[in-house]
Amino acid sequence: MKKKILVTGGTGYIGSHTAVELIGDGFEVVIIDNLHNSEADVVDRIHQITGVKPHLEIFDICNKESLDSFFTANKDISAVIHFAAYKAVGESVRKPLEYYQNNLGSLINLLGAMKEAGIPGLVFSSSCTVYGQPEELPVNEQSPLQPAESPYGNTKQIGEQIIRDTTRAVSTIKAIALRYFNPIGAHPSALIGELPRGVPENLVPYITQTAYGLRDELKVFGDDFNTPDGYCIRDYLHVVDLAKAHVVAVKRLIEGKNKSDFEMFNLGTGIGVSVLEAIKSFERATGVKVNYKVTDRRPGDIEKIWADPSLANRELGWKTLSSLDEAMLTAWNWEKKIRSNKG
Ligand code: NAD
Ligand code: WQD
Repeated sequence: MKKKILVTGGTGYIGSHTAVELIGDGFEVVIIDNLHNSEADVVDRIHQITGVKPHLEIFDICNKESLDSFFTANKDISAVIHFAAYKAVGESVRKPLEYYQNNLGSLINLLGAMKEAGIPGLVFSSSCTVYGQPEELPVNEQSPLQPAESPYGNTKQIGEQIIRDTTRAVSTIKAIALRYFNPIGAHPSALIGELPRGVPENLVPYITQTAYGLRDELKVFGDDFNTPDGYCIRDYLHVVDLAKAHVVAVKRLIEGKNKSDFEMFNLGTGIGVSVLEAIKSFERATGVKVNYKVTDRRPGDIEKIWADPSLANRELGWKTLSSLDEAMLTAWNWEKKIRSNKG
């Protein structure tokens, strides 16, 4: 019998890639998504890639009644991966209540329903945003958390606290928080990828849209930072590598290999890359020039951050395999595919 995994937010960017990897590893995948930031046909694309169409339930996880009746009908779920959340940092500053309501309300409902239904394992999408601007680099899991820069970031810090308290109080629930650094790229099939609505906030979708001609120029937010070339530094990892970490985390919980009731792992490459290096990587990988202009700094931007992923390397046996250039090429192939209207 295949083990059944609930993937909330499974038609979204990281969730859809994770569904592909789970199916490839022999799991049955059930998705809950309200399609706030994704399309229902993603399950057909997952089908095209894997030969299996995951079951999709379309509802809002903040709706407790819907969630409870889902769990009543699906008591055989072995673990939950909780991606469903709003994720736009700038929007969260303008709409804090919506972010707290959605990101924390959904998590609280989910933990309550898991407790009632006796579902044992939770993998939670956390973020490097919880570290703010760290004093020492690279950051490891013991690095102190800084006050969140945005309501979005705060939902990840509070989300981790809610899970910690719940795993202490509810002996049946074990959890793993995965702190992602900067996921980029798309599945090599170019059938699934990131679908930013409107003007992208993140660097790589902005690069690909500019390269495609949808945007006149990429605004690079500052070149006078205290870094070797003056540009901000991040740790960009390929979304397929990131997706694979979720399969490992789920297995760790199912097999009871977790070393405490609530574990957390950094997921990154361990390599800091500047904005300029990221642009050069895209140009090298695709042969397409990016029209960019250096402008003012973006308020609240972290100057530099990259992961110490050694705990995940050691404990999960996971590490990133794709290079930055490979990830950039998949991001470009995805951009071309969605714009060609054939995808
Ligand atoms: P995404 O927006 O592509 O996917 C999230 C999915 O959740 C969407 O399909 C959306 O429709 C769904 N959703 C949101 N609220 C819901 C609700 N109340 N009920 C049901 N479905 C709901 O985002 P993503 O980039 O795939 O991110 C997944 C998770 O990873 C999020 O929790 C995000 O905060 C976290 N994360 C993302 C990044 C990143 O850079 N993409 C980095 C760190 C952490
Ligand atoms: C990367 C670099 C920008 C756009 C955000 C969230 C974080 C996490 C990942 C979810 C920075 C520069 C960007 C542009 C630019 N998400 N940039 N021009 O800021 O590291 O993190 O996504 O948890 O919480 O804050 O990612 O892609 O926005 O920026 O120069 O048009 O690219 O200044 O140095 P960031 P990003």
